[in-house]
Amino acid sequence: MNRTLSLFFLLLLLGCKSKESAPEQDFSYEDDKLTPVQHGQKIFEGKGNCTACHQPEQKIIGPSLKEIASVYKNRDGAIVKFLKEESEPIVDPAQYAAMKVNFTVTKRMTDEELQALEAYIYSIK
Ligand code: HEC
Repeated sequence: MNRTLSLFFLLLLLGCKSKESAPEQDFSYEDDKLTPVQHGQKIFEGKGNCTACHQPEQKIIGPSLKEIASVYKNRDGAIVKFLKEESEPIVDPAQYAAMKVNFTVTKRMTDEELQALEAYIYSIK
């Protein structure tokens, strides 16, 4: 009886806890207040982990954002389509294999998040 009772309270406690912490885990409301460029930068540097291979001005493992933006502008490419693996690489096709592994991450993103990434890349001049 005692055990059942304490189990009951434990479950009650856990139930309350998960309800309390839920709003903190929901970042979407906060992201709504950012401009697409700011939102894109946040994803690029945060959960996208894109900065591991891309810097704004300099080529490291991957091409710089400046280069990506200029190639996509000149050739009228679609970054969102590329990140969904729906179009071919046009910046540095020889290195495509290193970029391809990231599609597991980008394919889980919403269209809004991908458009934000695109806006951020285009904002680098
Ligand atoms: C492991 C290293 C690595 C990471 C992490 C990485 N990239 Fe890349 N990326 C590359 C390389 C290498 C290329 C050049 C090959 C190519 O052009 O596809 C590239 C190319 C690109 C291109 C140009 C594609 C084209 O048309 O040629 C875009 C856009 C891009 N990356 C966006 C991103 C975004 C957004 C992220 C984060 C979600 C990201 N990358 C994460 C290595 C990486």
